Amino acid sequence: MEIRCEINQKEYVFEADECERVVDVLRTLGLTSPKKGCGEGECGACSVFFNSKLVNSCLLLAPQMQGSKIVTLEGLLEQTALIRENFEECGAVQCGFCTSGFVMRGYDYILQNGAKDEESLKEALDGNLCRCTGYQKIVEAILKSMR
Ligand code: FES
Ligand code: FES
Repeated sequence: MEIRCEINQKEYVFEADECERVVDVLRTLGLTSPKKGCGEGECGACSVFFNSKLVNSCLLLAPQMQGSKIVTLEGLLEQTALIRENFEECGAVQCGFCTSGFVMRGYDYILQNGAKDEESLKEALDGNLCRCTGYQKIVEAILKSMR
């Protein structure tokens, strides 16, 4: 089917299979920041903003993209520059597979929460999995990115 939507503030028109998951469509379009980890909504590696809400793009199908506005990490490089820098500085990146999902989650958390609060941040990160870092460095990096 033909799909028209906006991704990272650019108009896209493309063909996709109705059964294709959004994470796969995005990656086929060359937007590879969303990673396909579990494919079941459990790990957060595929996080994107979908009509302004952060979602797991492995749980959405291509037809849902019709007329939607999607933002991937590629569209937020400037806005997430400090978070990404702090991930590096704090040692919050090892294999990096989970990183774009955590950066997106951290960015969303910072947008919605003015004050630093480690406990609520940990709750917000609950849907993101990392097999390498033990999480504390990720928490530190996001807290360091807040005023
Ligand atoms: S790949 Fe989507 S949540 Fe794990
Ligand atoms: S850095 Fe490897 S899964 Fe998180």
